[in-house]
Amino acid sequence: MKVDVRTICCIGAGYVGGPSMAVMADKCPHIQFNVVDMNPERIESWNSNKLEELPIYEPGLSQIIERCRGKNLHFSCDVKGNISKADMIFISVNTPTKKRGLGAGQASDLKWIEACSRQIADHAKGHTIVVEKSTLPVKTALTIKSILEAYIIKGKNNKTNVKSFSILSNPEFLAEGTAINDLINPDRILIGGDDQESINSLMDIYINWISADKILTTDIWSSELSKLIANAFLAQRISSINSISALCENTEANINDVAKAVGMDSRIGEHFLNSGPGFGGSCFKKDISNLIYICNHYGLYEVASYWEQVISINEWQQKRIISTIVEKLYGTISEKKITILGFSFKSNTNDTRESPAINICKNLLEEGCYLSIYDPKVDSNQILKDLKKENINYEKQIDNSKQIETHNSVLESVVNTDAIVILTDWEEFYDLNLREIYELMRPPCWIFDTRNVINVEAAKSYGFNIWKLGNGKFK
Ligand code: UDX
Ligand code: UDX
Repeated sequence: MKVDVRTICCIGAGYVGGPSMAVMADKCPHIQFNVVDMNPERIESWNSNKLEELPIYEPGLSQIIERCRGKNLHFSCDVKGNISKADMIFISVNTPTKKRGLGAGQASDLKWIEACSRQIADHAKGHTIVVEKSTLPVKTALTIKSILEAYIIKGKNNKTNVKSFSILSNPEFLAEGTAINDLINPDRILIGGDDQESINSLMDIYINWISADKILTTDIWSSELSKLIANAFLAQRISSINSISALCENTEANINDVAKAVGMDSRIGEHFLNSGPGFGGSCFKKDISNLIYICNHYGLYEVASYWEQVISINEWQQKRIISTIVEKLYGTISEKKITILGFSFKSNTNDTRESPAINICKNLLEEGCYLSIYDPKVDSNQILKDLKKENINYEKQIDNSKQIETHNSVLESVVNTDAIVILTDWEEFYDLNLREIYELMRPPCWIFDTRNVINVEAAKSYGFNIWKLGNGKFK
């Protein structure tokens, strides 16, 4: 059924729901957007008058919030009320990997999707278009549909409020740190569904700022699967280049030159060939795990084990960075102090989910060192929470809380430390005052650059020892 969409509800005010609805609201002033979340603190932060208190740091986001909030963009905890007013509902809730039970460690936990479907079924009125925005396992729409239909049948029996639903898949491809630009200028918009009129209703929204040739429509299963596969392919490129970074270190080649030469082949392309400490973020590992689970489910064991390698290489890359640091610092880092520059999983975000920094720091702490951590945007409470002692054998003699310090600047964080480990490519790390830093550290001063941000010649000229990931000349 074609719906003239006037009111939209988005369930989930996270990294996907918040920025996506903000950009849509900015581009569609004729539509009201109500973003709801079950977490009152998150909603309070979205409504804060101090824009620096928004729950998400994303370049360009606060300006849009300032323009639209209170006009056609609203954040609230009133899930039921906003569902009942909505012509269209986006589901942007999280779908973490299951921690226990069937499929634990691989399958996505769809309990939030199920909870949302029940809330929608209960409170929606008239005809409602339900749009999956979250990245979901293929066939999730069936779960949503069966819940919604069960309620329709029950409603009919009770002869109460007649309601109907169409389900669409419209995965979001934004990357954190560039979310606003990705939303304004996407490579494509993908809409999957079997009800052409509902597809048209959603296209009418995007057409306000995106040209029609960029809007691709497919059946719902191809759409759900495409998002999973896009993430798997991106992660696969990172594991491929990271595996070669190790080979470069052993052959005196330079991974940056190799990546450039390879990427200049237009069939391969230059993007996503930066070697580093491995991919992090909420999506890649979760989505590949889910892909592996689905392949095993269908008996495609060879396909499953092919994708398993992408995750294995990612974990191995972190392990070899940790052992390199320990080896270079004379085989022990017990009681030594190490500066960590960058804690978020990539630059320009305050998100630390699955950040390589978490695993690397935890392992260094286990070796008994002290960490002095600086990240320009990650809150120090978040860092301490991520490095909580749970299940880790940090040095028994050392109190964990005393093992970790967080700082507000690079210079503060390097005082009396033995080494610097660069884990995120924040802009300011490209322009470090190496002369001053060297003076503040304890010799022999080491830099372990996993993100290719340091000018090696300059660092050496000030007296630093340097190890650069993937560079055979500085190993
Ligand atoms: C998440 C997934 O990580 C991603 O794969 C998927 O594509 C979209 O959802 P993100 O927005 O980054 O992405 O997650 P998160 O920041 O955790 O936001 C989800 C929000 O949904 C949270 O604020 C949570 O409180 C809220 N939520 C969850 C509800 O409001 N209701 C629920 O029933 C469940
Ligand atoms: C990813 C997808 O890019 C996006 O389309 C999807 O919607 C969500 O998942 P995101 O995780 O936010 O986005 O960031 P992305 O830029 O893809 O980076 C993921 C990880 O890969 C980061 O840890 C990043 O540092 C790393 N990475 C990326 C590399 O190590 N090398 C690269 O060349 C690119």
